[in-house]
Amino acid sequence: MSERDLTALDQDWSNYWQGRTGVESGAALVGVEKHPEIEAFWKAQLQGFDVSIPVLDLCCGAGTVLKILKGLGYSQLTGADISQAAIEIVSREIGDVRGVVTPADAMPFRDDEFDLVVSQYGFEYGDFTKVIPEISRIVRNGGTFVSLSHDTVGAIHQEVSAQIVEMKQIRDTGFVPAARLLFAAAMTGKTEKTNAEISAEFRAAQMKLFPLAQKYRGLSEYIYMNTQSMYNQHRNYTFKDIMIWFDGIENDVDRFLGRMESMHASAINPEKMKSMRDLFAANNIELEPEQSLLDAQGASLGWILKGTKSG
Ligand SMILES: C[S@@+](CC[C@H](N)C(=O)[O-])C[C@H]1O[C@@H](n2cnc3c(N)ncnc32)[C@H](O)[C@@H]1O
Repeated sequence: MSERDLTALDQDWSNYWQGRTGVESGAALVGVEKHPEIEAFWKAQLQGFDVSIPVLDLCCGAGTVLKILKGLGYSQLTGADISQAAIEIVSREIGDVRGVVTPADAMPFRDDEFDLVVSQYGFEYGDFTKVIPEISRIVRNGGTFVSLSHDTVGAIHQEVSAQIVEMKQIRDTGFVPAARLLFAAAMTGKTEKTNAEISAEFRAAQMKLFPLAQKYRGLSEYIYMNTQSMYNQHRNYTFKDIMIWFDGIENDVDRFLGRMESMHASAINPEKMKSMRDLFAANNIELEPEQSLLDAQGASLGWILKGTKSG
């Protein structure tokens, strides 16, 4: 992965972990990964190990699995993630965990450092041709790798696909650029277009956003309603503040889309599964036959991958 790709990816996820999107932009940007079955899955997987072994949660995010490990009494915990913001949350909210900011494909860990590496919707985000050999390098012989990973059939993938469509539709309305011009005309009078042209462009964009706000609620409704209320009260704001608000919205949409697109791209289809399995085997980790973790309705929450390293 190039330095530029890494920075973009880190920004997408750091923005998410800073909680900015979720707090500012309403229900459309809420995470999609929370299910009680997932916690039960990890509790079952993590039984039977000596809790004093060194464990890595790879692509740990804000530490969902680290918290479960901690609750089970594991004492030598490391969380690794590309996002500095995520690791800051881990360090702040979970005591006695070593947090390491690193891409999964080149980790600063010693050979054989861990007895157990776990990953929840994580390791598959990296380039697996580099990440799998890295995992094998840092797991000791006899050590275990367990992941719950995105698949291409389950509810999460469907939701992610739908969110991508929604975000692209919001962008395609051209609403934010048209609204910026509308405010510029009303508040500065300095625009290259006539007021009539600006109003017509804004109305056209508004007519495109309105059905999205009705259909999806969430972010489109948030943008629609807030723009209207700011316009009604624009004398109470400075032009700069309004532009900053639109910058934030555009940033939220771009980052959210980036995050959803990386989630979508990471999902493992049967062909990718076969390549991954072969690569694990070539790196001395024989995976058990893969299974899906199912939610209460029988829908897939993702692949369970598990294997032991043998010399
Ligand atoms: C869907 S989140 C899952 C986080 C956490 N495991 C959980 O389940 O709550 C994916 C995480 O992978 C991290 N990530 C994405 N690409 C990565 C990479 N190439 N190397 C390391 N971490 C990465 C992101 O920063 C994010 O925290």
